[in-house]
Amino acid sequence: MLCFRLAPVLLCLVLGAAQSYALELNLKNKEDVTCLYAKWQMNFTVQYETTNKTNETVSIPVLGNVTYNESFCGDDHNASRLAVKFRSGFSWFVNFTKRVTHYSIESIVFTYNTNDSSIFPDAKDKGLVTVHKPVMFSIPLNDIFRCNSLFTYETNGVVHNYWDIHVQAFVENGTVSTKEFVCEEDRSSTTVPPVIHTTVPSPTTTSPPVEKPEVGNYSVGEGNSTCLLATMGLQLNITHDKVASVININPNTTGFTGSCQPKRAQLRLNNSVVKYLDFVFAVKNENRFYLKEVNANISLTNGSVFSFSNENLSYWDAPLGSSYMCNKEQTVSVSGKFQINTFGLRVQPFKVKEGVFSTAQDCTADDDNFLVPIAVGAALAGVLILVLLAYFIGLKRHHAGYEQF
Ligand SMILES: *[C@@H]1O[C@H](CO)[C@@H](O)[C@H](O)[C@H]1NC(C)=O
Ligand SMILES: *[C@@H]1O[C@H](CO)[C@@H](O)[C@H](O)[C@H]1NC(C)=O
Ligand SMILES: *[C@@H]1O[C@H](CO)[C@@H](O)[C@H](O)[C@H]1NC(C)=O
Ligand SMILES: *[C@@H]1O[C@H](CO)[C@@H](O)[C@H](O)[C@H]1NC(C)=O
Ligand SMILES: *[C@@H]1O[C@H](CO)[C@@H](O)[C@H](O)[C@H]1NC(C)=O
Ligand SMILES: *[C@@H]1O[C@H](CO)[C@@H](O)[C@H](O)[C@H]1NC(C)=O
Ligand SMILES: *[C@@H]1O[C@H](CO)[C@@H](O)[C@H](O)[C@H]1NC(C)=O
Ligand SMILES: *[C@@H]1O[C@H](CO)[C@@H](O)[C@H](O)[C@H]1NC(C)=O
Ligand SMILES: *[C@@H]1O[C@H](CO)[C@@H](O)[C@H](O)[C@H]1NC(C)=O
Ligand SMILES: *[C@@H]1O[C@H](CO)[C@@H](O)[C@H](O)[C@H]1NC(C)=O
Ligand SMILES: *[C@@H]1O[C@H](CO)[C@@H](O)[C@H](O)[C@H]1NC(C)=O
Ligand SMILES: *[C@@H]1O[C@H](CO)[C@@H](O)[C@H](O)[C@H]1NC(C)=O
Repeated sequence: MLCFRLAPVLLCLVLGAAQSYALELNLKNKEDVTCLYAKWQMNFTVQYETTNKTNETVSIPVLGNVTYNESFCGDDHNASRLAVKFRSGFSWFVNFTKRVTHYSIESIVFTYNTNDSSIFPDAKDKGLVTVHKPVMFSIPLNDIFRCNSLFTYETNGVVHNYWDIHVQAFVENGTVSTKEFVCEEDRSSTTVPPVIHTTVPSPTTTSPPVEKPEVGNYSVGEGNSTCLLATMGLQLNITHDKVASVININPNTTGFTGSCQPKRAQLRLNNSVVKYLDFVFAVKNENRFYLKEVNANISLTNGSVFSFSNENLSYWDAPLGSSYMCNKEQTVSVSGKFQINTFGLRVQPFKVKEGVFSTAQDCTADDDNFLVPIAVGAALAGVLILVLLAYFIGLKRHHAGYEQF
């Protein structure tokens, strides 16, 4: 508060940085039971133009008198909003949409007021500026999303920083869940509390299956907002203490979720044995996608946990706007000790239109690409041999000829 009255921006910033101010909202519905819970921290960095035509960058902490009263839980129980207002004219909100198995956030809307001269001294344009940041978060229903790590987004000269996030929309029965859906960035941190398994890993899942895994359908987002699609049968092959465990993923008992960003898309599977199995896709050369990363944490039957990550893979490469398909068995080698055999694979991590796959690039094309150089090489080798033969025959004849003289 002092910070606002005294107005010097520097003092504000110092206080802001020193003070760790968590936002918290426990929103209740008409029946007075919790329907939305959120606790998080955020701040923003904004670039603006000054009257003397230079660009300045300022940091906007979210503290002081913060109101949440435009947050609501919809009467239909399928839409809700988390909204924050602070200072004069500054606001931030996200809408949550409830789907069949997940709830999602599709955009973040942030409004700032360049009239506020304590934050924007000498701003050339004065007034409200609203920026929409499209995001794609899909969280399993009845899970609380947790992310202690810093999340940063940049759009229209505004940098959003979010950290220490705990959020659950569509809270059931008024009790905030203890089941956490932990963001990928937090996974490596050792403070991750154990996920409570409701089912004990069944011993049959790790007995060496000879049968093929069942093909499952996975997606991130729903309907027209689907951003990632995958159809695949998955067989994990983990070598631990020189023993290979082969685990088929049963799509009937496997949950999935994920997130999509313009150049990065993630699909996460989880079940009672697989705490998480992430497939992370990236864009290369602006025009192709590929499987870049696999992260896994799997409970083995002997009680040990296998955890592995490889961020330098290059599989399932296809043009953006198409899907990658491979019907035959294919192996993704994550490490010497961890392979994933795929069956009936089709994936499209980007540019999904109307919830359906686009045309496919088939993996047999990989083989064709492979065969062409071989064919060309073989032809060249043939020509070379003929040339050499002709040369040696010619040389012999010449030799014979010279000796006659
Ligand atoms: C915060 O709100 C309270 C009550 O509405 C008010 O008395 C106080 O002056 C406000 N402080 C600032 C810095 O706006
Ligand atoms: C904004 O958040 C970032 C990331 O946590 C932090 O490094 C920075 O100091 C914060 N800025 C302010 C003004 O609080
Ligand atoms: C422009 O204005 C800013 C803020 O008032 C000031 O720090 C900067 O020195 C000015 N630049 C010029 C070129 O006058
Ligand atoms: C200020 O930023 C705007 C928008 O990013 C840009 O068009 C303009 O050239 C910048 N001006 C200066 C002086 O850097
Ligand atoms: C939110 O609270 C503020 C101050 O307490 C009040 O002026 C405003 O009318 C409220 N808005 C809504 C939508 O209830
Ligand atoms: C929410 O539910 C109502 C009534 O059940 C329906 O009309 C509306 O389309 C639903 N909204 C969404 C976003 O699913
Ligand atoms: C958020 O939800 C409100 C009310 O349901 C709606 O009017 C608004 O358009 C939505 N905004 C975004 C960005 O989705
Ligand atoms: C900004 O300030 C001008 C002049 O002081 C005022 O007319 C205008 O309503 C203000 N706009 C906002 C969004 O505060
Ligand atoms: C909420 O209550 C209903 C009925 O008592 C129960 O079936 C359901 O499992 C509960 N949900 C959670 C998440 O506890
Ligand atoms: C999806 O998009 C198509 C074409 O834009 C439209 O006809 C259809 O109604 C949309 N479906 C939903 C569920 O929004
Ligand atoms: C599992 O991996 C081991 C070691 O790489 C290999 O010998 C075995 O054939 C693999 N089994 C399957 C079903 O892929
Ligand atoms: C999965 O569910 C389908 C339909 O209920 C069933 O036919 C199939 O056998 C199940 N698969 C497994 C591996 O349990």
